[in-house]
Amino acid sequence: MSERDAIEELSDLFVFLADNDFAGYSPLYEQIARAVATDRELLGFIAAAANPNARRGRVPVLFFAATHDRVLASPDRAIAAIYRGESHVDPMPLLRELIERDGSAVIDNMRTRSVQTNEVGRSAILSLAFGRSQRNVTTQTALFEIGPSAGLNLYLDRFHIDFTRNGNMVAGIGPDDANVRLECELRGPVTPAIPTEISTPNSRRGLDVNPIDVMNDSECRWLQACLWPGIPDRPERLAAAIDVARMSPPQLLAGDAVTDLHSALTSIEPTDHLIVFSTWALAYIDTNGRDAVIKTIDSVGAERDLDIVTFEEPRFTPWVSNFDPSVFGLYEGEGTPTLLGLRSWRGGICTTTALAVAHPHGRWIHWLEENHG
Ligand SMILES: C[S@@+](CC[C@H](N)C(=O)[O-])C[C@H]1O[C@@H](n2cnc3c(N)ncnc32)[C@H](O)[C@@H]1O
Repeated sequence: MSERDAIEELSDLFVFLADNDFAGYSPLYEQIARAVATDRELLGFIAAAANPNARRGRVPVLFFAATHDRVLASPDRAIAAIYRGESHVDPMPLLRELIERDGSAVIDNMRTRSVQTNEVGRSAILSLAFGRSQRNVTTQTALFEIGPSAGLNLYLDRFHIDFTRNGNMVAGIGPDDANVRLECELRGPVTPAIPTEISTPNSRRGLDVNPIDVMNDSECRWLQACLWPGIPDRPERLAAAIDVARMSPPQLLAGDAVTDLHSALTSIEPTDHLIVFSTWALAYIDTNGRDAVIKTIDSVGAERDLDIVTFEEPRFTPWVSNFDPSVFGLYEGEGTPTLLGLRSWRGGICTTTALAVAHPHGRWIHWLEENHG
């Protein structure tokens, strides 16, 4: 691809993000994305800064995280006040200044780091799937996350989650005094069975190519950098979830799910009910790799009962196929609607169900499965 085409493509990606992901959600990033899309100098910088092996579709979000990290590193600068929502001046002159001053650190972030957003809002979605998967299960649960980042969603039993419909409370689960508080709006005609509680798992484990250590402050700053500014309470919620995980950090292995999953899964207590889950992680693995991942879990599932909960874009979980795709059309422009799937192995028999479509950060859920009670 010529340099000119690469810049055009990058510009389109920024506009796509502005229209589909940031609009009505992160106004600052929407404003910046639209301005960057027409700024050839900045686009040239970003194209040159990107790791040549990076997937092009991921470059804009990585650029946002790489610059946000530098903003967080200098909280006294004027641009930091904009990111905190304390100032509403045009961010672009200050962003250009930041890149002039700190460009090499931005490039370093883009070359050495990846998008590792650990979004605890997804715990609201997982709580419904785990409740569904634990139906008729009496043994303790072992949670195992593929691509957990820092593993914060492994602590969903310690979060308080309110489910609402049309602004009215439907049910709340989790400790009333929890510092991590989530709210998820129920949409669509079906109200899912909301579990009365999420049991404490026997183990919280995961496998990530680059696990984030919750005890390490600079790694935790990268988690904050991956957040989009302007969304109320999100940084505080992330900080509170990090505090929860710091009390008893999860067991996160460094390794590739494509090659290292089998041995990781076979080390799990055989009498526990195993739930393997992935949220916005399979998107970072190529098609052959994803095939290998599901084959590995299936091979373990043929030997022991387990559930595989996926919360991913539907194209990344082709085994979750039994749903009407027109539901995605209902939520155009509301973030990338994400499919919640459940694949269960019981006594050597495998069944797969499309449970729901939801906002990628768990703000709302449209339950699909009927007769779920
Ligand atoms: C966008 S983050 C999502 C983190 C977390 N699942 C969440 O939803 O909050 C994607 C994570 O997948 C991890 N990842 C990417 N490719 C992987 C692979 N082949 N094996 C294991 N982890 C991988 C990344 O390092 C990153 O931490």
